Amino acid sequence: EKGGYPHFMLKEIFEQPEAIRKTVSPRVREGRVVLDDLRLTKEYIQGVSRIFIVACGSSYHVGMVSKYNWERLLRRPVEVCLASEFRYCDPLVDDHSLVIFISQSGETLDTMAALREAKRRGGRTLAVVNVVGSSIAREADDVLYTWAGPEIAVATTKAYSTQLVLMDLIALYLGDLLGTIEKTEYDTILHELEALPEKLERVLASIEDVKYFASRYFNHDSIFFIGRNLDYAMGLEGSLKLKEISYIHSEAYASGELKHGTISLIEPGTLVVALGTYEPLFDKAMSNVVEVKARGAEVLALATEPLKEKMAHTADSVIAVPETHPVVQPSLGVVPLQLFAYYVALQRGCDIDKPRNLAKSVTVE
Ligand code: F6R
Repeated sequence: EKGGYPHFMLKEIFEQPEAIRKTVSPRVREGRVVLDDLRLTKEYIQGVSRIFIVACGSSYHVGMVSKYNWERLLRRPVEVCLASEFRYCDPLVDDHSLVIFISQSGETLDTMAALREAKRRGGRTLAVVNVVGSSIAREADDVLYTWAGPEIAVATTKAYSTQLVLMDLIALYLGDLLGTIEKTEYDTILHELEALPEKLERVLASIEDVKYFASRYFNHDSIFFIGRNLDYAMGLEGSLKLKEISYIHSEAYASGELKHGTISLIEPGTLVVALGTYEPLFDKAMSNVVEVKARGAEVLALATEPLKEKMAHTADSVIAVPETHPVVQPSLGVVPLQLFAYYVALQRGCDIDKPRNLAKSVTVE
């Protein structure tokens, strides 16, 4: 049932191009995003004053990426909330609030409770869910499915990736209704979403590089991920993947925060994974690499292909991913991070598909 792969996680990582294709292509017609299941009118969305994205774990990390992308494309405030916090924080939801819930399983108890709380306060709810007919899908006002197919490994990969692209599609759709997206930007992002499976195949073909770095670094006992903007949001996911399956302590930081405390943890030999795929802030990413190198860190960087050489001037090693529109870039960048976590866990002999203390669907508080 693993289709020749040693673990479901690896199988599911390799299923990502197809899962993304299945999520995107039925929703594109004649160069436009078509979301037949979404019953949000132009009048309604024009009256929305706040957008909340509520989720747990990796789904929350999709929300972190989406906050940057949606605010860029919709020019509306977007707040990302952990479901376990949202449900008890007396949230400022009213009938001008659109509240989006992201969940692979559709059964996460905190997310479900947060959904009920948002509805009770008059918010309009939209669920982005993978499991058809799940509780969250049934209770939300609207539901859009990620067509990732069944995900077996506890650590999510293809569900995360399909959530990302679906959130991008929704942003294009709503931004078009609001008139906040330039036509050329709309066309480029949509084109890049359609081109994503093929670019992802290229990332997956460079697996040997990642394997090599995993064999070099699997013995570290603490690993830091740094980045800015979308790279920061992606780093949160890279760090979670690593810690949950390899049991290595890991933290993700917004690079600008290093100086406010974290940099004291950097010693000679500490591994820093420096994310530099967000092109508008690439120079800042480079200068943060210089900063941690000066404290003796070993730096493994991630950059887009055109900027790989430049990054190699400062980092010890660089993994490159194909370039795409910045809004879509995390969909490519996250894959080497998933593979890195996988191969590090493999080297350490961990139970990859069933990490200790974790369940696939968290139906208790
Ligand atoms: C991490 C992971 C978890 C889930 C979280 C939410 O790899 O899988 O962090 O993302 O438990 O689950 P869903 O998306 O089912 O609500």
